[in-house]
Amino acid sequence: MANLRYLTAGESHGPGLTVIVEGLPLGVPLGVQDINPDLSRRQGGYGRGGRMKIERDQAIIRSGIRLGETLGSPITLLIENRDWANWVEKMAIEAPQLDIPPVTKPRPGHADLAGMIKYGTGDLRNILERSSARETTARVAVGAIARKFLAELGIRIRSRTARIGSIVDEPGLDHARPEHWPWDDVEASPVRAVTPERADQMMAEIDSARVDGSTLGGVFEVVAWGAPVGLGSHVQWDRKLDARLTQAIVSINAVKGAEIGPAFANAAARGHDVHDEIAIDPDRGWARLSNRAGGFEGGMTNGQPIVVRGALKPISTMRRPLRTVDVATLQPTTAHFERSDVCVVPAAGVIGEAMTALVLADAVLDKFGGDSLPETRDNLQRFRQTYAVGSESA
Ligand SMILES: Cc1cc2nc3c(=O)[nH]c(=O)nc-3n(C[C@H](O)[C@H](O)[C@H](O)COP(=O)(O)O)c2cc1C
Repeated sequence: MANLRYLTAGESHGPGLTVIVEGLPLGVPLGVQDINPDLSRRQGGYGRGGRMKIERDQAIIRSGIRLGETLGSPITLLIENRDWANWVEKMAIEAPQLDIPPVTKPRPGHADLAGMIKYGTGDLRNILERSSARETTARVAVGAIARKFLAELGIRIRSRTARIGSIVDEPGLDHARPEHWPWDDVEASPVRAVTPERADQMMAEIDSARVDGSTLGGVFEVVAWGAPVGLGSHVQWDRKLDARLTQAIVSINAVKGAEIGPAFANAAARGHDVHDEIAIDPDRGWARLSNRAGGFEGGMTNGQPIVVRGALKPISTMRRPLRTVDVATLQPTTAHFERSDVCVVPAAGVIGEAMTALVLADAVLDKFGGDSLPETRDNLQRFRQTYAVGSESA
């Protein structure tokens, strides 16, 4: 990320999270009202654990915004951890006065054991505090800023849950027209699914996993529309925007796979059933007769809606714990259990939106630049005119 740079900081049970983002142009209308709704959406979803009942995530803006607009200077956001009040001794900044017992029973599937060996610590808390997905709160906050910038340019991003455990929700939506999908129904659904009956089945499966002391994964889908042709590039592997987007999606905790469009289904089909034929629409200019490429060709956006999916493994902290080895005694035992979620696929979709917004905002700034929003917008509009059907240069 060269144009829009950001860095998050903060431990799961520390005083709070901080993020500094730099590179957004001057003049983007912005306030906490643009950030806090996404923080609430990340906290929700059927299957979350007790922690989210404690937190009321709200961003505090410390720099970079004046009179309701960005200044082009670094924006600093703080989000307090309400749970910190319960952890002041275990997470104290100062050297301890009391004996703080270390966490010594690594959870299979978590960062605990690899982190312990890599960093040479005997207390797994030194690893798990930062590997916790609490960090994604900061990413959602900064992603909301990127989303606002993109919205000013006509680019919209939404997400939905496509699978939880064995329950799949594939309602046959038109991936070429996501602007017409029932997004209000998705937001009203406790699992962020489109089909109510599927949502009920997903919740029943989550209840069953909870009773069993186990957890569930699944698949979320993020769609973005309104992006121009030509973000990213084919000329070098690290300029390919589909690759940068899938990296961003897999960077979300517990996400182990990503696909652009129906990539795995396409792999099983013939070329005639996969590629999106080219046409000219009298109203919209260059058009495709389908959107099975998921909005990318040659590492560039092709003007079609962007479709990316993330596959989550089930959460690794489980009330019915797996076998492990105590790192202090080297004796077999069962894994550490600390209050935990049962299923986070709905929340992961919201984080996926944030990561998509950050990647797209960076790519927009890469192609169109601009120190102020009007300058970026003018550059984008001028470029759109170059490929509008009927324009002199088309
Ligand atoms: C929104 C969200 C919440 C999560 N909550 C938990 C949790 O409560 N317990 C847990 O063990 N893992 C949770 N995870 C997953 C872990 O953070 C993740 O599995 C761990 O950091 C190891 O990284 P990896 O799975 O990406 O390899 C959550 C993930 C997300 C996206």
